[in-house]
Amino acid sequence: MNITIVGTGYVGLVTGTTLAELGNTVYCVDIDFKKVEQMKQGIVPIYEPGLEEMFLRNIQAQRLFFTTDLREALNESEVIYLALPTPPGEDGSADLSYVLSVATQIGEMLTEYKIIVNKSTVPVGTADKVRETISVHTNIEFDVVSNPEFLREGFAVEDSMNPARVIVGTESERAQEIMAKIYQPFTNTGIPIIFMDEKSSELTKYAANSFLAVKITFMNEIANYCEKVGADVDKVRLGMGSDDRIGHRFLFPGIGYGGSCFPKDVKALIKSGKQEGFDFQILEATEEVNKNQKVILVSEIEKFFGDLAGKKIALWGLAFKANTDDIREASSLDNIKILLEKGAKITAYDAIAEDNVRRVLGDQISYAPDMYSALQDADCLLIATEWSEFKNPNFDLMASKMNQKVIFDGRNMFALEQVEDSGFHYKSIGRRTIS
Ligand code: UDX
Repeated sequence: MNITIVGTGYVGLVTGTTLAELGNTVYCVDIDFKKVEQMKQGIVPIYEPGLEEMFLRNIQAQRLFFTTDLREALNESEVIYLALPTPPGEDGSADLSYVLSVATQIGEMLTEYKIIVNKSTVPVGTADKVRETISVHTNIEFDVVSNPEFLREGFAVEDSMNPARVIVGTESERAQEIMAKIYQPFTNTGIPIIFMDEKSSELTKYAANSFLAVKITFMNEIANYCEKVGADVDKVRLGMGSDDRIGHRFLFPGIGYGGSCFPKDVKALIKSGKQEGFDFQILEATEEVNKNQKVILVSEIEKFFGDLAGKKIALWGLAFKANTDDIREASSLDNIKILLEKGAKITAYDAIAEDNVRRVLGDQISYAPDMYSALQDADCLLIATEWSEFKNPNFDLMASKMNQKVIFDGRNMFALEQVEDSGFHYKSIGRRTIS
């Protein structure tokens, strides 16, 4: 099938590459001329393990094309995926201006039946809005379908090629048949495709992300309580997770959730609720707890040192989680902001996300070329991202570099036994402090 993807951000690029990999001919459209030229030359604009190989393979096979010309792509395709940004507006609600502006253009360009697929995370009722917007400009028949994306950054290729499920929201039989055909390679391998109405499909995405945000936040509160009563959150987590109604995943406490999805989607669902006169109390609490959790170690650092002015802090990890260069809503940034305000000096190490942080913070902090150099003369180490390379460090080498042997670990990177005999003061989340 011939498919157009409008928007080559994270979701669009991965979706386009995946659909090409499944055998379709895919036209990716973006208004960013420079980006389109780069992609034509085989340059992947985002960091995502495994994506480049699949991307190049499909360009080579002439199944993946890039253009700035929406009309040209549209004319070639029966199905148009919208993978456009829906950033939070000032009041937290999702800004639909990109989606609706492309809908207007599509309305003006339609010459025959097409399916418009909403891949972006959009509030309940957006399919209706897109339909109304297109209808203003055309009498040609078309369908609007909701098909939310659930992929995780860092695992995008894995998640998009092997999703837990595909959700398709449409009440049109014609659209249902075509969408079923697109995802046939998935259903052939046992991946369920769940059809439902558009509104339920739109809400499924928000409900899933918000639930996961609540799950993490619940665990963070349990971790904080563990510290109060002398319990060990690792044990509690294992005990809880062994009940398969709860499951082991997404129970890892830390310095809060970040990223481009959870914070935005939780906010947007609260806002959508408010517009209907509905209070999502559990989500409001989640936001509040998460806000505090992100910087929970700053008060611990302050408690330990008293005055932070002039203290030299090494920071391992800047990305909002491992395996991505994404720093959107990263806890590292909240910590840096407060620590700098308190007069501390920061040397950070993150091989993958450093460039993105440099763009935002410039030389407000220093950057180290490797994890050990970041520790030079440091009074303490703060760990903000769970990169694998931090998992099993040489504690003697660390000690030899640092001014004081103190670690604040926001990601519970080490087993307590690992640190026990190292002579380090070690404060993690929800576990006893080693001193
Ligand atoms: C998320 C959803 O998982 C995905 O389905 C959706 O499509 C987009 O949003 P992503 O933002 O890539 O994906 O990150 P994810 O791996 O879900 O992690 C989100 C945040 O939660 C990160 O800050 C991570 O560090 C944190 N987290 C995750 C925890 O603190 N503990 C956990 O146990 C899991």
